[in-house]
Amino acid sequence: MNRIPAWQYDECRHVGVDYADPQVAEEYDARHQRFRGDLAAEADRLLDALGVRAGHSLLDVGCGSGNLAIQAARRGVIAYGVDVSPAMLAVARRKADAAGVTGATFRQGGFLTYTHDGPPADVLVSMAALHHLPDFWKLVGLRRLAGMLRDDGLCYLMDTVYSFPPPDYARFMAETVARFARNAGEEFGQEVATAFREEFSTCDWIMEGVLTRAGFVIERAEYPDGMLARYWCRKARPAQGGSA
Ligand SMILES: C[S@@+](CC[C@H](N)C(=O)[O-])C[C@H]1O[C@@H](n2cnc3c(N)ncnc32)[C@H](O)[C@@H]1O
Repeated sequence: MNRIPAWQYDECRHVGVDYADPQVAEEYDARHQRFRGDLAAEADRLLDALGVRAGHSLLDVGCGSGNLAIQAARRGVIAYGVDVSPAMLAVARRKADAAGVTGATFRQGGFLTYTHDGPPADVLVSMAALHHLPDFWKLVGLRRLAGMLRDDGLCYLMDTVYSFPPPDYARFMAETVARFARNAGEEFGQEVATAFREEFSTCDWIMEGVLTRAGFVIERAEYPDGMLARYWCRKARPAQGGSA
């Protein structure tokens, strides 16, 4: 990656959970499977819901251990998985190799630094990654990604975004940490506490503004439990582009 300007947010410096730690990367799938279920099956359900088919190109930013890109490549999609963590990318590449999957390309980079040299992607996905950036840099990153997506292309964003009533924050956070500790183990409860304390999850109304100003039209927003958000978006046509 090129040197970044002194004023730019350093997205390679991990805040909160340290995904650059090889042990964290090795244990990632097993830990997440405890509360997400089978990650390959989750990826397949999402690809079906997005209507992703052979011949499409898909860009997954913050791809982690590569499940989405690998499942996409298995169905003939030209898949790119991008992540700032070499440790996570090493796991993703190893899994793709072990499965004999050749159509997934994994590249180091992030919302602020990745440059896409292929034709614009048909589908852009990012899951559980954008909250690693402070809000202004979320906007910068999403505007960059909009530039890598074809006009009218689909963008699916899933992340931790707060929709619980703000006065309830203490009760909500304490109960959420306890629930994750109960369901996924004490260590994962601590990971959720770290995320609340140190990472940059934002509010639903801010995230909707960020997406719109980044050049997306939100077709559906889902807030199932107070802290998870799913946005089904399309790249706005050029005349409707953002103004940041
Ligand atoms: C919770 S994991 C999510 C991985 C995967 N998307 C999933 O759904 O399982 C967060 C990932 O985001 C990556 N990440 C953190 N900051 C990033 C950035 N600025 N750009 C791209 N990826 C980033 C981390 O390295 C990590 O692999």
